[in-house]
Amino acid sequence: MSPYNLAIFSLFLAPLLWFLKGLIKPLKSNRKLPPGPRGLPIIGSLNLLGKLPHRALNDLAKKYGPIMSMKLGNVTTIVVSSPQIAEKVLKTHDLVFASRPQNEAGKHVSYGNKGIAFGEYGHYWRNIRKLCTLELFSAKKIDALSKMRREELVMMVSTIRDAAIARQVVDVSDLVGDGIEKMTYRMLFGKFSDDRFDLKGTMLDIMDQAGAFNIADYVPMLGPLDIQGLTRRIKAMRKTMDTILDTFIREHEEAASSTRPEGYEPDFVDILLSVLDKSEERRGDLITLIDRDCIKAILVDMIAAGIDTSRTTIEWIMSELIKNPRILKKLQQEIKDVVGDAEIVEDKDLSKLQYLDMVIKESFRLHTTVPLLIPRQSMEDIVIDGYFIPKKSRIFINAWAIGRDPAVWSENVLEFYPERFADKKIDLKGLNYELLPFGSGRRVCPGMNLGLVKVRQIVAQLVHSFDFELPNGMSASDLDMDEKFGLALPRENHLLVLPSVRI
Ligand code: HEM
Repeated sequence: MSPYNLAIFSLFLAPLLWFLKGLIKPLKSNRKLPPGPRGLPIIGSLNLLGKLPHRALNDLAKKYGPIMSMKLGNVTTIVVSSPQIAEKVLKTHDLVFASRPQNEAGKHVSYGNKGIAFGEYGHYWRNIRKLCTLELFSAKKIDALSKMRREELVMMVSTIRDAAIARQVVDVSDLVGDGIEKMTYRMLFGKFSDDRFDLKGTMLDIMDQAGAFNIADYVPMLGPLDIQGLTRRIKAMRKTMDTILDTFIREHEEAASSTRPEGYEPDFVDILLSVLDKSEERRGDLITLIDRDCIKAILVDMIAAGIDTSRTTIEWIMSELIKNPRILKKLQQEIKDVVGDAEIVEDKDLSKLQYLDMVIKESFRLHTTVPLLIPRQSMEDIVIDGYFIPKKSRIFINAWAIGRDPAVWSENVLEFYPERFADKKIDLKGLNYELLPFGSGRRVCPGMNLGLVKVRQIVAQLVHSFDFELPNGMSASDLDMDEKFGLALPRENHLLVLPSVRI
């Protein structure tokens, strides 16, 4: 390059370098973490979380602000408690925060993190998520499962009707949970029970262990000691689960080689097997990836992410309706106006039930099913709201705290008042950061529509068919609303009711 050209080139290069330096400098020089409590040696602030971490973190956020940092063990943890900062994390910088921290349970239960929910961000995760979104959660697939859901709904109504006639108490938490489990297992495996295995018991144990707080995830040097015995238990259960899933997959493979009966609706195992070991080009992406372990990990994800969440959501909606007879009556009237004297609320009716949607939103606001969403992990150093967030930080979005923040929801924030949504354009898809029951961005819940159909249908059906009293003459105001923290946030005590038949 001639000196003349070099001079011209430098003339253009200098401002560019100056501009880039301006961009990089704040990132390097501002390494101030968000405010937060000073932790103890080794455990950091783990001792502050208590039995209900979403509440403890909300109390801390009142002192330290909507973006807060703390050490949990030796993990730098960032807690977000306002819609504005949630938007920066989940939308503006979604890609930086699109990964998940790896944990002990995921290693064993998700076959070395081959599932979607706890998988690290990357090519593999993107492709299996895309595959599941297209093949398993599409509107077409949800419609195709409508007949099966209806059959289970009819069974549920019939069980409650028998109890109502015999004036027996019904455990709504168990009954709804059972119905959702059956719907889920039928959708995944084509059947809900198998005499050879304790499918339900095994999956419940797995979910309990996976939801338990494992100290090894926060203080890795304690991992090999397995102080709580969790890793040992989870490995044993994974063996039982593996046998069940292997058997189901093998039987599906054998059945696939024979002729299916007419009208046979493929279940999830059939669909996943149809792409086993295949690779194909889809919109520029190569989809290979599905091996046997991957199928098993996806099935476990569907069970872990799909059952407890829907059951918990319904449990809280029903609790609030029983506590608020005015709202229950108004909802019953709306359903009657749409459904008339028909016994069963059909899929086609659901889109006409606007007050039901408000009731569901209000319940999500006050009783956010997954209160801290599923934790994210940052993939790069980044500055948010003037604070430095180092790579590999763990991020909790306290959606529960946002739902109860008076600065977001104005007056009567703790009152169950569905009408507050009447003039608000807030939906549940993760675009309104004040209400995030399904998360948002790249990691938003892919089962949202399926989950919502079940919640709408079961709640509408229960209140259409029955009235409810609390047992032993208990008044509605005495019904406890205590929570139990886990993967989801269910009631601490099951919801027991005395039903009476309406229709
Ligand atoms: C009312 C019911 C449900 C609620 C409240 C719910 C809520 C959530 C939430 C909050 C997340 C985390 C989102 C984030 O990190 O931003 C999530 C993720 C997920 N959910 Fe759901 N969910 C429900 C139903 C379902 C169903 C029925 C399925 C499947 C059968 C499902 C499958 C998943 C999966 C696979 C993920 C992980 C997504 C990823 O990491 O990419 N969910 N869900």
